[in-house]
Amino acid sequence: MKVLLVCLFAAVYAKHEVYLGWKSFYVKPSSHDQLKGLGSLIPKLELDFIIKPTVDREGIVLVRPPYQDDFLNFLASEKIEHWIHAEDVKAQLDKDDQMIEEYMQERRSTKTEGMSYDRYQQLDIIYKYLDTVASKYSDIVKIVTPATSFENRPLTYLKISKDNFKSGKPVIFLDGAMHAREWITVPTVTYAIHKLVENVTEPDLLDRFDWILFPVVNPDGYQHSFDRERMWRKTRSTDQHSMGRICRGVDINRNFDFVWNTTGTESHPCSDIFPGSKALSEVETRVVNAIFTEHKDKMVMYLSVHSFGSMILYPWSNNGTLSDRAFALHTVGIRMADAINAFSVINFPRYRVGNSALVLDYFTSGSSDDYAHSIGVPLAYTLELPGRGSNGFVLHPRYIKPVIAETWAGVVVGARMAGDLFGSR
Ligand SMILES: *[C@@H]1O[C@H](CO)[C@@H](O)[C@H](O)[C@H]1NC(C)=O
Ligand SMILES: *[C@@H]1O[C@H](CO)[C@@H](O)[C@H](O)[C@H]1NC(C)=O
Ligand SMILES: *[C@@H]1O[C@H](CO)[C@@H](O)[C@H](O)[C@H]1NC(C)=O
Ligand SMILES: [Zn+2]
Repeated sequence: MKVLLVCLFAAVYAKHEVYLGWKSFYVKPSSHDQLKGLGSLIPKLELDFIIKPTVDREGIVLVRPPYQDDFLNFLASEKIEHWIHAEDVKAQLDKDDQMIEEYMQERRSTKTEGMSYDRYQQLDIIYKYLDTVASKYSDIVKIVTPATSFENRPLTYLKISKDNFKSGKPVIFLDGAMHAREWITVPTVTYAIHKLVENVTEPDLLDRFDWILFPVVNPDGYQHSFDRERMWRKTRSTDQHSMGRICRGVDINRNFDFVWNTTGTESHPCSDIFPGSKALSEVETRVVNAIFTEHKDKMVMYLSVHSFGSMILYPWSNNGTLSDRAFALHTVGIRMADAINAFSVINFPRYRVGNSALVLDYFTSGSSDDYAHSIGVPLAYTLELPGRGSNGFVLHPRYIKPVIAETWAGVVVGARMAGDLFGSR
């Protein structure tokens, strides 16, 4: 009995053990110098910013045990305002899990056709759902697996079309889970599949467009975030540098072939924004890139679904300038945000819309939306879904249904406007 108890205890608490002793802090720099100083610490202290700070707006950063003294000493010497966010990151994650567990036990599983949206699903359920939809609606849905991930998981997406993309309708492309820990993005994309084929309340969307839906771009990272490190972001590749076994993975959203490795990346391979040894080094990036290449002439809208922050962001992220499509990008972005805000039943923060660099106050290179836009996709966005609670990536499953429904309302409006503005391209 005692042994059994100990085993159970270990099974539950082994879950977030990599975060033993980690703390998280709010940091609020008051000048660009302080902000730069913090940035320079990232590689040295292997900092992981959950929310990036900007001047006079606090961010949240995870700090590993061996670096906590150095970190606090630096903040003190530079007089950077800070306060504690979580004294014990592991305990916080355990507490979140426990709340979710209690919530799950209180409810019977309410299974709507194929997949339930009262929990975050493991990969096997998601793959099975894609298979089921593809075979049940084989006249309009094609399942495509052009390659496997670094760890040999299928990189699978659906093409949904009334005529197998033959008549050259405008194409709309949504992807999710490019960043592993952003779990809410996956049901958001599978719900779009549901609304296009299983519960069709907007039939014009299939009459007018061909669709590509790629729910899990980064399955290796996604699985790892379930099994080992909830806050994992990158791929799981080991072949990018000599420290590959110690520091795995590449940030897919810094790995596209667009002003690659010029700004907003870290050369240190342990960093969460490591861009890889070269552009398109990751097979996951290459599969998304091939979709762009194949459909760029017809693609009118691309939504890369991320979390969190309630933002609709558009190019250029590398320098904060506006593209010559900025007016359309902004107008359609605002209309999507209005639709989401109007639909929203929970009081999430209202969506903000704007140029990525101007809204976030930092530059990035090698991002997928910039790349798509650079090869001619007129409406290319990064959608940051809402977050809530002590850690925005760990969104309680009770919010899945509200988020996917409100986001779909935005997609519907965005798609129709994309068709009106660019459908005859
Ligand atoms: C289909 O979607 C509508 C609108 O969201 C909803 O009211 C209805 O219950 C759904 N039907 C099924 C069978 O899920
Ligand atoms: C990325 O850019 C940095 C800074 O210019 C440079 O030090 C590094 O070598 C580059 N990485 C690669 C793989 O080219
Ligand atoms: C900003 O980046 C875009 C995209 O690469 C480029 O077309 C533009 O010339 C750049 N503008 C400036 C001022 O550097
Ligand atoms: Zn992301």
